[in-house]
Amino acid sequence: MKKIMNTTLNIKRVGEVVEVYGWVAKKRNLGGLLFIDLRDRSGIVQLVIRPNTTAYELAETLKNEYVIKARGKVVEREKKNETLKSGEIEIEVEDLVLLNKSLEVPFEISDSTTALEDTRLKYRYLDIRRNSLSEKLITRHKIVLAVRNFLDKEDFIEVETPILCKSTPEGARDYLVPSRVSKGKFYALPQSPQLFKQLLMVGGMEKYFQIARCFRDEDLRADRQPEFTQIDMEMSFVDEFDVMATAEKLVAHVFKEIKGIDISLPLMKMKYDDAIDKYGSDKPDLRFDLPIEDITEVFINTGIEFLKSNIDNGGIINAIVAKNCAANYSRKEIDKLTDYVKTYKAKGLAYIKYEDEVTGSIAKLLSENELNALINRLKLEKNDMVFIISDKKSIVKTALGALRCKLARDLNLIKEGDYKLLWVTDFPAFEWSEEENRFMATHHPFTSPKDEDVDKLLNDKAHCYSKAYDIVINGYEAGGGSVRIHDEAVQEKMFEALELTPEQIREKFGFFVDALKYGTPPHGGIAFGLDRLVMLLTETENIRDVIAFPKTASASDLMSECPNTVDEIQLKELGIAIDKK
Ligand code: AMO
Repeated sequence: MKKIMNTTLNIKRVGEVVEVYGWVAKKRNLGGLLFIDLRDRSGIVQLVIRPNTTAYELAETLKNEYVIKARGKVVEREKKNETLKSGEIEIEVEDLVLLNKSLEVPFEISDSTTALEDTRLKYRYLDIRRNSLSEKLITRHKIVLAVRNFLDKEDFIEVETPILCKSTPEGARDYLVPSRVSKGKFYALPQSPQLFKQLLMVGGMEKYFQIARCFRDEDLRADRQPEFTQIDMEMSFVDEFDVMATAEKLVAHVFKEIKGIDISLPLMKMKYDDAIDKYGSDKPDLRFDLPIEDITEVFINTGIEFLKSNIDNGGIINAIVAKNCAANYSRKEIDKLTDYVKTYKAKGLAYIKYEDEVTGSIAKLLSENELNALINRLKLEKNDMVFIISDKKSIVKTALGALRCKLARDLNLIKEGDYKLLWVTDFPAFEWSEEENRFMATHHPFTSPKDEDVDKLLNDKAHCYSKAYDIVINGYEAGGGSVRIHDEAVQEKMFEALELTPEQIREKFGFFVDALKYGTPPHGGIAFGLDRLVMLLTETENIRDVIAFPKTASASDLMSECPNTVDEIQLKELGIAIDKK
């Protein structure tokens, strides 16, 4: 017999005799009647067991998380429970079978559990019984299904690419797998299927996608896992606008299927430089305004010493105005915000309260002209709060970009259920690495520069932009991609720009460079972070909530206790000795 989902039972099925299966979530004895909340994947249904029935004796012995089967009639409840899908009915049990017992569980399996996350991760299989977690996994399934259906209709072909492969240049550290057969040699787990998907274009597949597992050994954050999943796509005979148009149609389809939300297309496009200038981030959260304003001009001839010396040293002065909330900010609050921006390397946070009296850390130092210029430039109104950072550009933008998001959270400016999507385009092709003291590729070395910037590859890297784009949703980088280089001469220039010697090129990606010589079509693509999309659509800020068996911040699995040591014999076979120092 096919098991029914318990919450499909409703008022329309009153009178039917049904069989339900599940776990005992709660048992109550009320005036001799036993009530059991029976949980299955879909939720809870209530069982009633009357005294003096054969089921009663067994029911009395049941404990939480015992697995049972019950048969009985669906009846209308006297007291309805509106919080439950099946809350209008209950099942009057005639027959009860115990399918399995359970040890006492280490934490209460309910959505209001207060158990620590580490405990829940250790017993992840129990945590998955909680509705709030299983629902997210089900949504994840529905998202993947919607993606597959959409891409299939758009003529994309799903192709699997290897997990044991040669390292792909995506910028993070590789996870390595030693080879037993070729001792001393290693496979790398893919950071993304980048090279393979481009090879599929050389192979004439034209439109490819894959729900691809990726591995990156990098510092973890709330939206990063060492092992994560991408919706990876590549298309031939396209430019960046074609890829963005297809990708945003896919996103709109998923939002409609999962949330019933209509996303209006085409999405807004913002250049990288503008995003940094106005929002201090290449993934601006546009659910709230709070733009960053450049007020350097106001202070060009200032007598305020620290501002003047910063400008003289090439620095800038920027501000954020929090409208109508000067009264909200006590000294203590401002000190907290100052500590916050210091974590982004700002030396301090100046402020002005524009109330009947103008007060604040630099209020007394401002000349009348400067104050008037500020009022004009920032369109200040009574009770506005102005936060100011003076420093070198990169610090000012990053610190105010972070402050902007913190203010929005603190001031409750973010509407629940709101989604703001945009493309960030025109990324710089290179970024300066202080560590390496040279320009590195912002993305991977196969990202095409803008046609008009090809000549800058070698002599003006700081102003060379690429055909790369990120899709940003509510301040998250939900995906990123680019048009690739398919012209051998441009590829060579790019390698030269990255200061790779011919030997390094051959050693790192000789096979790939060779392939590009055999009639490579123009192509481009994108990869969405599936986990991040699921986070956004299920409205959680913790990536672990959307992965069945995630890793902790230190990249370990608390349940299976991995990573772990291995037998001496296994190491020997691989020719590996552990340096215990
Ligand atoms: P990129 O490195 O930008 O591009 O990755 C694409 C998307 O994958 C997600 N992502 C992650 N999600 C969770 N945990 C992580 N550690 C993690 N790292 C990345 C992000 C990101 O936008 N090969 C290129 C794509 C291309 O050019 O087509 C690539 O991998 O949402």
